[in-house]
Amino acid sequence: MTRDLINKKILLGVSGGIAAYKTTYLIRQLVQSGAEVKVIMTPTATHFVTPLTLSVLSKNEVLTEAFSAQGNWNNHVELAMWCDVMVIAPATSNTISKMASGSCDNLLLATYLSAKSPVIIAPAMDLDMAVHPTLMRNLEQLQSDGVQIIPYEEGELASGLSGPGRMAEPETIFQELKKVLLPEPDFRDVPVMITAGPTHESIDPVRFIGNRSTGKMGVAIANEMAKRGCDVHLILGPTEIDHKIHPTVKIVRVTSAEEMNDACSALFSEMKIAVLSAAVADFRPESKSDQKIKKSSDSLDIHLVKTADILAGLGSKKSPDQLLIGFALETENEMENARGKLQKKNLDLIVLNSLNDEGAGFGYDTNKITTISKSGEVHNFGLRKKTEVARDIVDQIKELLTVA
Ligand code: CTP
Repeated sequence: MTRDLINKKILLGVSGGIAAYKTTYLIRQLVQSGAEVKVIMTPTATHFVTPLTLSVLSKNEVLTEAFSAQGNWNNHVELAMWCDVMVIAPATSNTISKMASGSCDNLLLATYLSAKSPVIIAPAMDLDMAVHPTLMRNLEQLQSDGVQIIPYEEGELASGLSGPGRMAEPETIFQELKKVLLPEPDFRDVPVMITAGPTHESIDPVRFIGNRSTGKMGVAIANEMAKRGCDVHLILGPTEIDHKIHPTVKIVRVTSAEEMNDACSALFSEMKIAVLSAAVADFRPESKSDQKIKKSSDSLDIHLVKTADILAGLGSKKSPDQLLIGFALETENEMENARGKLQKKNLDLIVLNSLNDEGAGFGYDTNKITTISKSGEVHNFGLRKKTEVARDIVDQIKELLTVA
């Protein structure tokens, strides 16, 4: 095994479920890879696997209480500052619920609330708990708080039932940790520009023409690329949502299509990759009234003129070593229209989402995409969370980078 996690500091939180025994394999693998591992257990977790076992494997004292028997205080802030990543595995329904509500009645939770590093959780629970709406709500909350979730798997459960709820295998958790700790060489410091969100085209000082885009998809791509080591510039339209954006992402806020175009034109020549996911207004009012328009007449005509097609503009000046990725939002003749845009706008990849697919499109947390590459390769993906879709898109981009 390569010791590529040397000098990496991992804080493992173990909560009380039968899957706790599997953390023994995870700890062993991490330590063998050179990582330093410290473990915090919830009091319930100690019934499933002993602190002594995890201490022997991690080669560190295992902490379960905020205070030791000798009256020492185990400083959760120090622990939280110490680690490069905090992983909670298994994360039980109880721990997930407390994390989502900010409850703090054990050392693991106090440390989570102080964590400055990325936090990853691997949920594990029995079938009925795994599909309970409260869990879905809590996971959504954690996801929007920036916690990465390693989905549970389907299979045989401790209850004897079979279905979703099994904790991801230690190997899967190990690989996810490696992704967070070791930026992919292909992406390290690669300059990337991403547009996201809607644009607002002013009619007068209080009104605008806009659209329903929230920017969730573009922000998810920006976060994924930042996590994998890219130098990300996010050009973000006027979205109402309080997005959790990766700390290394550089954000440029814009309002109108013209401002977005200016921001893109200023950055593009420095970029290796540009992903244009924003829902840019195709038309804007020809003139903006300086004063609020009064309802003095029975009707109002607003003359609209076309905005610049930002993506097509970048396509026309793209150099051979740059990758340009666009989106196509279609309601009919999806594949044909997407292929047309790919070609007309000189793209390397187009991501098609159809408004006809349930759960896909503006505002949803899920999306269903098909990608088409310049060479004609088509990939269909199922309905998935936008964070997972972002991963799929970035994987596709990585393939293009390798080919280029
Ligand atoms: N796009 C852009 N600038 C515009 C319009 C669109 O950069 N003024 C980009 C979007 O960010 C997206 C792609 O072009 O990546 C396709 O957008 P879409 O709305 O699907 O298509 P349009 O080209 O606007 O064509 P139509 O609305 O006729 O389908």
